[in-house]
Amino acid sequence: MRVYLADEAATLELGRQLAQHCPPEQFTIHLEGDLGAGKTTLTRGLLKALGHQGNVKSPTYTLVEHYSLSTRPVFHFDLYRLTDPEELDYLGLDDYLSNNALCILEWASQGGDYLPSPDMTITLSYHKQARYAEIKTFSGQGEQLSKQINVSSIES
Ligand SMILES: Nc1ncnc2c1ncn2[C@@H]1O[C@H](COP(=O)(O)OP(=O)(O)OP(=O)(O)O)[C@@H](O)[C@H]1O
Ligand SMILES: [Mg+2]
Repeated sequence: MRVYLADEAATLELGRQLAQHCPPEQFTIHLEGDLGAGKTTLTRGLLKALGHQGNVKSPTYTLVEHYSLSTRPVFHFDLYRLTDPEELDYLGLDDYLSNNALCILEWASQGGDYLPSPDMTITLSYHKQARYAEIKTFSGQGEQLSKQINVSSIES
C-alpha cells in the first residue's frame, strides 16, 4: 500500500493515524528510507498523538529513546550508527520487544538478522519536494492496522 505525503503535515498525519489505531499489544514498526526522508517526522506525529509533549529527536548516538507515556511505553530506535548488529545484545532488546511496548525503529536494516520480524515496515522515499510511504505488513495485527489508515484524509 502506497500513500502520497505532500508535505510534513501529511507525514505527521500518517503518524497520528498509526498511533490512533495501533493495537494495544506489543507492536513493532520498522521505518526505512534515505537520510531526511521523514522517519523522525512520522515518529513525532505518532508520539504526539499518544500524548507526548515536547521534542522528538532521532536518538542517533544513544540508539534508543524511551517515552514513558500514560497510554503505553514507546521505544524509538535509530540504528544508523550501529556498526555491528551484535551491539544490539547490549541494548537488551528483549525488554523492548515485550509487554505492550510500541517499538519504532529507524534504520532497522542495520540490525540485520538480529531483529525479529516487525509487524509493519514503512519505507519513505523522495518524490520531488514530497514523499511516498510504502507500507508493508508482516502480521495479522499489522494488516489490521494498515486497513485502518484513511488514505484520502492524508492525501487531501
Ligand atoms: N511529506 C513530506 N514532504 C516534504 N517534506 C517532508 C515530508 N515529511 C517530512 N519532511 C521534512 O523532511 C525533513 C527531514 O525529516 P526527518 O528528520 O524526519 O528525516 P529522517 O528520515 O528521520 O532522517 P534521518 O535518516 O537523518 O534520521 C524535515 O525537514 C521534515 O520537515
Ligand atoms: Mg531520523
